[in-house]
Amino acid sequence: MCGIVAYVGERTAYPILIKGLQRLEYRGYDSAGIALINHGTKVYKCKGKVKDLEEHSKGKDITGTIGMGHTRWATHGEPSDANAHPHTSMNGKFTVIHNGIIENYAHLKRELTARGYAFQSQTDTEVLANFIESIYSENQVDAELAVRLALTKVIGAYGLVISCIDEPGKLIAARKGSPLVIGVGKGEYFLASDATPIIEYTDQVIFMNDEDVAVITRDHLDLKNIQNDMLVPKVQKIELSIDEIDKCGYEHFMLKEIHEQPHTISDTFRGRISMDQSNLFLGGITDVLPRLVQARRIIIIACGTSWHAGLVGEYLFEEYARIPVEVEYASEFRYRNPVIYADDVIIAISQSGETADTLAAIKMAKESGALILGVCNVAGSSIARETDAGVYTHAGIEIGVASTKAFTSQVTVLMMMAFLLGKKRNLISQEAYEELIAGLTQIPDKIQEILSDEQYIKGIGETYKDATNALYLGRGNLYPVALEGALKLKEISYIHAEGYPAAEMKHGPIALIDENMPVFIIATKDKSYEKIVSNIQEVKARNGKVIAVVTKGDDVIVKMADHVIEVPECHEALAPLVTIIPLQIISYYIAVLRGCNVDQPRNLAKSVTVE
Ligand code: AGP
Ligand code: GLU
Repeated sequence: MCGIVAYVGERTAYPILIKGLQRLEYRGYDSAGIALINHGTKVYKCKGKVKDLEEHSKGKDITGTIGMGHTRWATHGEPSDANAHPHTSMNGKFTVIHNGIIENYAHLKRELTARGYAFQSQTDTEVLANFIESIYSENQVDAELAVRLALTKVIGAYGLVISCIDEPGKLIAARKGSPLVIGVGKGEYFLASDATPIIEYTDQVIFMNDEDVAVITRDHLDLKNIQNDMLVPKVQKIELSIDEIDKCGYEHFMLKEIHEQPHTISDTFRGRISMDQSNLFLGGITDVLPRLVQARRIIIIACGTSWHAGLVGEYLFEEYARIPVEVEYASEFRYRNPVIYADDVIIAISQSGETADTLAAIKMAKESGALILGVCNVAGSSIARETDAGVYTHAGIEIGVASTKAFTSQVTVLMMMAFLLGKKRNLISQEAYEELIAGLTQIPDKIQEILSDEQYIKGIGETYKDATNALYLGRGNLYPVALEGALKLKEISYIHAEGYPAAEMKHGPIALIDENMPVFIIATKDKSYEKIVSNIQEVKARNGKVIAVVTKGDDVIVKMADHVIEVPECHEALAPLVTIIPLQIISYYIAVLRGCNVDQPRNLAKSVTVE
């Protein structure tokens, strides 16, 4: 959610900032702005998209080799020109862009108002700008010290870039709870919320940690903590290519990422399966594997799609490793005062690695002494760094707000963890283990086969694009797939959709069934096949429309359902990976046919870094 880009060097800053903000568009936002520092500070900002900001800046002075840019996802004050960032302090000394929330802004605002400060916006960020200026002016300190002193009084989360008119050529950055990455160039530095605006200029990056403060000029970087202790910057090489952040001919990032899944699932298990396919290696958790093997319980914490992946994990860990599992919404878990034992293992699942609720739940769980593992997609992300160990999903950057390839990569990691644990606990024979591993390696080709039916699946989407409601049903490890399919539809097409365990229909939801209710039923061949066939008959008996995802060659359901989408046969433990694909595709096309903004759905952000 929201985004920061900043530059200090010898190039003209404006195009770097604008292109950087466009690279961050996938994060979701409602307004945008830039500040250019060149003999004073010029601020251009407005409600709307980056293209509206470009229009707004047309014909204005956009010179300058230092500047900052921001895309806002409003928390304090509605989306408006006045509430857009950057914000300038009352006497014009400081210009600030901010990701996050200043929780004690109201208290600070009351104090500042009493001291004569006036405000042009409703934001918490402007309060911080004036707070910094008040400390700067009243204590006669330099800009960096004023920033650090102010931040010691701030409660909340921030990613900040700040400039001071009295110290031109310098940017001050600070981070606590909202990510900031420094790009290290030759005679230039970049700052951004993630690496995507930086990688076309440099692959040398520094991931700022909480309470880090960076003071940057074109040829110097000082990294310290908020207490003024100098830190040694840890410069890393980022493995990200321009192609990964380009649509590569697809209409939307979401469609590109759906199609990437044969490759991304291969990337997820690459290097983690022995050459003879007789064993699995998860290097990220090797050191802690004994504790995982002996776990009393596994608690999975996540949000949204990642929570659905966690539910698949529950079926897998209990089936193959015989370890009790609880799957928790991070946003509930963190406030519930849960009971956590030292011999529990917590698995935090997060594509972005920045979801505030998941991060907070981890920090709370740490006090219990339980082993905390992460399943993340972004290397160096906050959650990845907060956990004791973990397994990266290696799905590559996911830009579409609706998660697709990250979900299948998360499930792939959980499958490997469950199979490995089951083997280590001597609950799976070598033969069964190798059958599962071999089955997993065949999944990419099976998904490729489903993708070749894209136009057929699109045609079904055309039939249901005007639906106002939809139901998704599944059993066993396909119930989480029903939930995920429903989330895909509602978050990008805005059609209300619900996922349900198929057997639960008769306990209420069957009252919803009529000829206007499309019911997506995942009915591949597994141990509950006969039961799900009965569920299809129950729906049809009430004139419901059934779109069934079936195992290729199914000649029973094809006689009952209104539409069938075939997926290749596979081991039932692996079925979530293939059955979600048609549901991703059909949601995509329904959303496109409804004229929705597929990559940036209304009200949503790619990474929810506020609570
Ligand atoms: C899923 O399509 C949504 N983008 C959303 O539910 C997402 O899965 C959730 O916000 C969790 O994000 P994370 O995996 O980055 O923690
Ligand atoms: N809380 C700030 C505001 O509402 C920043 C929100 C954001 O992260 O974009 O303007």
